Amino acid sequence: MTNLNEDLFASVDEYIHALFVVHDEALQAALDDSIAADLPTIHISPNQGKFLYLMALLSRARTILEIGALGGYSAIWMARALPADGRLITLEHNPKHAEVARANIARAGLSDRVEVREGSALDLLPQLVNEQAGPFDMVFVDADKMPYTEYLDWSIRLAHPGTLIIADNVVRGGQVLDAQATDESVVGVQRFNAALAVDERVEATIIQMVGLKGHDGLSICVVR
Ligand code: DHB
Ligand code: MG
Repeated sequence: MTNLNEDLFASVDEYIHALFVVHDEALQAALDDSIAADLPTIHISPNQGKFLYLMALLSRARTILEIGALGGYSAIWMARALPADGRLITLEHNPKHAEVARANIARAGLSDRVEVREGSALDLLPQLVNEQAGPFDMVFVDADKMPYTEYLDWSIRLAHPGTLIIADNVVRGGQVLDAQATDESVVGVQRFNAALAVDERVEATIIQMVGLKGHDGLSICVVR
C-alpha cells in the first residue's frame, strides 16, 4: 500500500472536482464569505457537495432536514436538487454561522426554499416534531458529534419509510477504532456508529472516504 498518501488522495479529489463539479459563483462566494467571517473551515468538500446533491436527486427529495448549517454551503448543494416547491430546513446553533448561512443561501437564490433555524438542535428537533414539519425525505447530520446518536433518533422520528439519513465524519482518520478514545467528538461518533448498526428501524452502512478532508466517512442509512 506504498502508493497511498494524503497528497495523492487530495490530487485525485481535485481531478474529480475538475471533471464533475461546476463550482459556480454562489458556491465559491459561500466558501469565501465563510472564511472571511472566520467560520471554522470544516465544511464539506465540493465533491462531497456533489455527492449530497446526487443523493437528494436519487431520493427524489422534496423535503430535506440538515442538522448543522455552518455557512450554508452543504445546504446550497442539497437545495439545488429540490423541486421549485421543495423545502430544506437547516438547524444552526451558532448565531454568527446562521447569519452567514442565510446570506450565502440568499445569494444562491434559495431563500424561498431554505429556512435556517437558529438554536440548539436538541431544542429545535422536538419543535419540528410538534409542528409536524416532517416527514423529511432526506436528512444530513453534520453538527457537534457528541449528540449524534440523539440526532439520529430525532431524525428517524421525523422520517418516513425510505428516508435517507446521511451523517458526516463517522471515521475521523480511523480514530473510531480506538477503544480508549477520550476525544469527545470521537466518542460521540463511536456511540453513533454502534447505535446505528443495531437500530432495527434502519438499514445502514458507512462509506470511508479520502480526499481534501483527509480520511473520514459518511454513514448512509435508509429508514425501513
Ligand atoms: C470537524 C467537524 C466536521 O463536521 C468536519 O466535517 C470536520 C471536522 C471538527 O469539528 O473538527
Ligand atoms: Mg462534517
